[in-house]
Amino acid sequence: MSLVKTAVFPVAGLGTRFLPATKSVAKEMLSIVDKPLIQYGAEEAIEAGINKLVFIVGRTKNSIIDHFDKAYELETELEIRGKHGLLQIVKDVIPDGIACVFIRQSEALGLGHAVLCAEAAVGHEPFAVILPDDLIRNHGDGCVKQMVGVFDRYHASIIGTQTVAIEHSDKYGMVAGPRLDERIARVEEIVEKPAPADAPSDQAIVGRYVLTPAIFDLLRTTEHGAGGEIQLTDGIAALRQHEQVLSYSFEGRRYDCGSKVGYLRATVDLALEHDEVAEDFRDYLKQLKL
Ligand code: UTP
Repeated sequence: MSLVKTAVFPVAGLGTRFLPATKSVAKEMLSIVDKPLIQYGAEEAIEAGINKLVFIVGRTKNSIIDHFDKAYELETELEIRGKHGLLQIVKDVIPDGIACVFIRQSEALGLGHAVLCAEAAVGHEPFAVILPDDLIRNHGDGCVKQMVGVFDRYHASIIGTQTVAIEHSDKYGMVAGPRLDERIARVEEIVEKPAPADAPSDQAIVGRYVLTPAIFDLLRTTEHGAGGEIQLTDGIAALRQHEQVLSYSFEGRRYDCGSKVGYLRATVDLALEHDEVAEDFRDYLKQLKL
């Protein structure tokens, strides 16, 4: 049994890159083929043995709460119509034994602040943080399952990373430090969005973390940075002064679904894997003769 039983989903951002779609609909409810982004994230957590999902939501995010609620009327209607396959799909959104907690972040004061909002629901335990707009797919174990395995071995906070082209370093938090094995390294430097010339390595932080509860006290005292926001990266940099922090270069493919092109790439790739539509969609793409 893993030590990590809780996942936090900070989903209270404004999603400005998808306006006007995100004017009244949460970015995380945008769907890749037929499943909202947030559900891919929830499934990744559940696969890792996590049984408490904590959602930090903001205005326009009520659809997320509704999505994870029981839909009695819909279930009854599908039952009456004998649509048992669809009924199972609806029931599987949240399997039995999984608890969902929703907390409002009343002001979008940054990712670090959103994580701090989860403190009372997390308690004094290690927890995963999942940013569902980073959609990560792997043929073997999912990213969170891999990271929880690393946590259980090292009992240290872990940042999920990926190699990026150095000219893109100013879009990411970047980390560097000595390698412990092929995928795991000790974090000795952590810099938020450095210019390529200042990047300490080509290892970028992506939207997966496993953190010890010591992070909460540090986030509480983290100074508000650019735009008045509390950065999670600053909190982790402070955590590193007190305890070991590791980076883990996960196995799998990441789609940045917070950007339009990343979202479209995910849609194409997942449609080509989808039982119901793959064949027709492949035929359509062939006809395009790009
Ligand atoms: P982003 O930087 O992607 O911001 O936040 P955003 O608002 O979601 O999207 P854009 O850039 O305006 O299009 C990274 C993650 O942190 C969460 C977001 O929901 C996203 O999952 N977040 C950010 C919060 O929960 N609260 C905040 O105050 C800020």
